[in-house]
Amino acid sequence: MTDADILDLKPDLPDFRKEVLKGLQSPSKWIHPKFFYDSNGSLLFDQITGLPEYYQTRTENYLLNDKCNIISKLLKDVEKAVELGVGNGQKSFSLIKCLPGLKEYVLLDISISSLRGAVKYLKTAYPWIGIHGVCTDYLNPHALYMGEGTGKRLIVFLGSTIGNMEKQDSMAFLRSCYGGMNDGDAILIGVDMKKDKEVLERAYNDSSGITARFNLNMIERIKREFGVSIPDGTFLHRAFYNEDIGRIEMHLVCTRNFSMNLDGAIIHFYKGEEIHTENSYKYTPEEFSAMLSRSGFTEPERLTDSRQYYSIFIARKP
Ligand code: AVI
Repeated sequence: MTDADILDLKPDLPDFRKEVLKGLQSPSKWIHPKFFYDSNGSLLFDQITGLPEYYQTRTENYLLNDKCNIISKLLKDVEKAVELGVGNGQKSFSLIKCLPGLKEYVLLDISISSLRGAVKYLKTAYPWIGIHGVCTDYLNPHALYMGEGTGKRLIVFLGSTIGNMEKQDSMAFLRSCYGGMNDGDAILIGVDMKKDKEVLERAYNDSSGITARFNLNMIERIKREFGVSIPDGTFLHRAFYNEDIGRIEMHLVCTRNFSMNLDGAIIHFYKGEEIHTENSYKYTPEEFSAMLSRSGFTEPERLTDSRQYYSIFIARKP
């Protein structure tokens, strides 16, 4: 891999201390889930994707591999794909196999180290395809500019990451994808589906406690980055399915009255008070198809498993 394979746009990294202070000083305490992913949190998330209870990654992988023929037929005219958020490149590896006309694959990620790892891995696996990385915040609309050319392009957004966006943000995101595409270009998105509460809650309360450690890593990060001491056991992991809203919610529950001094600001917690750390929205096929059509896309094709736990939606800009 050479430097020419990666364009580093040096995105502004979110300011953890500033955003945590803002969230913990608001009437309902919250911290944005993007802050889970420091190096320890990213390792814990990798472990989550392999958990028996966390069916999402496994099912998406199954769909990319077992429905490869269908994907190939649907997307045979795609010459360039742009993937938003890459992780370790495993999903990209599976998808590239299903794109027979592919000439160029561009990976966008805010983390230069993830990008380096994924680009290196994919270049070795597919030396005949132009694999490039762009270090940028893919939520920045300019990042979605897909370049000139006549061949059809594809936007790839896997991992059910869209579930971590609030509803209005996911609509804005889909519209901004649409805006960056030419007529006939395609979008492929992995989405976690609504299902039995028990199955959903098990996926976020695994028996080995990895998801709890992932959530509690937010406290570890506060301790490290603010240099404060918070005794073990002060916060507990809580995840549940909010059926009315159709989302998993993750919270950190304070087990006693407690105060912490963050850069001079005293933050009080009462026993039982919670920090809201994540929402993970689940959709029915109809709900997500409607979001795509409201954003301007064609009626999507949907690939799903026999239990309909997870779906990959493929739609075009008409
Ligand atoms: C990254 N994202 C799609 C995961 C999810 O399922 O919402 C994050 C996660 N949180 C707890 N477990 C996994």
